[in-house]
Amino acid sequence: MTATDPRPLTTVRQFPPGFLWGAATAAYQIEGAAAEDGRTPSIWDTFSHTPGKVFEGHTGDVAIDHYHRFRDDVRMMADLGLSAYRFSVSWPRVQPTGRGPAVQKGLDFYRRLVDELLAAGIEPVATLYHWDLPQELETAGGWPERATAERFGAYAALVGEALGDRITRWTTLNEPWCTAFLGYGSGVHAPGRTDPVAALRAAHHLNLGHGLAAQALRSAHPAQAKVSISLNLHEIRPLTSSAEDREAARRIDAVGNRVFLGPLLDGAYPEDLLADTAALTDWAFVRDGDTATIGRPLDSLGINYYTPTVVSAVTEGMAKPQDDGHGASEHSPWPGADDVAFHRAPGEPTAMGWAVDPNGLYELLTRVSARYPDLPLLITENGAAYEDEVGADGTVHDPDRIAYVHGHLAAVHRAVADGADVRGYFLWSLMDNFEWAYGYAKRFGAVHVDYTSLARTPKSSAHWYARVARSNELVDPAES
Ligand code: FCB
Repeated sequence: MTATDPRPLTTVRQFPPGFLWGAATAAYQIEGAAAEDGRTPSIWDTFSHTPGKVFEGHTGDVAIDHYHRFRDDVRMMADLGLSAYRFSVSWPRVQPTGRGPAVQKGLDFYRRLVDELLAAGIEPVATLYHWDLPQELETAGGWPERATAERFGAYAALVGEALGDRITRWTTLNEPWCTAFLGYGSGVHAPGRTDPVAALRAAHHLNLGHGLAAQALRSAHPAQAKVSISLNLHEIRPLTSSAEDREAARRIDAVGNRVFLGPLLDGAYPEDLLADTAALTDWAFVRDGDTATIGRPLDSLGINYYTPTVVSAVTEGMAKPQDDGHGASEHSPWPGADDVAFHRAPGEPTAMGWAVDPNGLYELLTRVSARYPDLPLLITENGAAYEDEVGADGTVHDPDRIAYVHGHLAAVHRAVADGADVRGYFLWSLMDNFEWAYGYAKRFGAVHVDYTSLARTPKSSAHWYARVARSNELVDPAES
């Protein structure tokens, strides 16, 4: 709401009818049961078991044991009034080597999960790939190879055929930027490779994999499959309005955002990206017909947002490498943007060191919706890590998280009032979980998890969010 908005507060606080109120998780971060029922290692099993890669050697072997506790977890979601739940399917659980027929026990787990959700009136939103590539496919070359995109299409067909009667909303990939550029560029994510050309090849093969998976999902259930992809679009701000800083912002926008938005929604890779990266590659790995495959219409676009990205040109005496918020590495995750410097955004930092800046979400939503007016948007991740403490009475009070979510929901509300077609919001995350290279050290959950007993305790943010979900309106934090 703007100060000049004439509408009465009660109306203005209301979200559109049917707005989805969800929470999100990902398989490797919560499931555990790493070697059960035929599952084989993914790149994250290999990476987390490699000394020095993950905080204090934490792994997802047990994670928060959701594989065995999913019924209780769904009951808890129902108690919290959620209308949707975004989870991911573990590729190595349903197709262990990344090839051949599906393992029925793996599919059965997701069938049971989805049936529980539907029985509880919670819409399942399934992500096919949240970073857990079967290790065998990485050994064969991973995402830099075209064959991996083709394998992903075949895996999507298996899952679509098995679960498409129960699931209508699909997300092909979660944050392909992280897979390509943190996984193959800076190496802070699995598989930990540090090759800028491999990262660019991976980006294209992820895009192609998305296109092939979208086709497979639609042909498995033509009448009902709705296909989306979740991008962590960077809300980029030049440090100053100088031409040099705006040029830095353009470069990061190219390799951070338009490397995906271009082929997905504009029909081609951006010319400026090809020029920025020309010294690294001629992009000959993009074959005729690929952009048509990638660019088939989406039913919605998923946006994950946490904090803005502030950039400038590199000036003399600036330290390198710099903290871009994506983890420390000697290797840049930004091919073709060596002359760009990253700065801390203003705003209180969360436990991740990410500045709280809800206006960034407002700006992102209004910009994307102005550029692609016919494309419905879903916020598929937003949330914050804080150093939560369990009180003497066993409760967890997390007013900072409530303030964070409230501020971002107010931004979403304002974007909707200004015309953005936002259909839902998924809090990251439902429960505390394995936060990738940070292991269990960063807690993003609305529900606290005791990592010894694995007991779940809704924090005050969960109770507050339940009121938002039930009323479909922005509840004042003071009412928590
Ligand atoms: C996103 C990931 C998600 C989680 C949050 C904090 O980049 O998609 O799994 O780690 O960040």
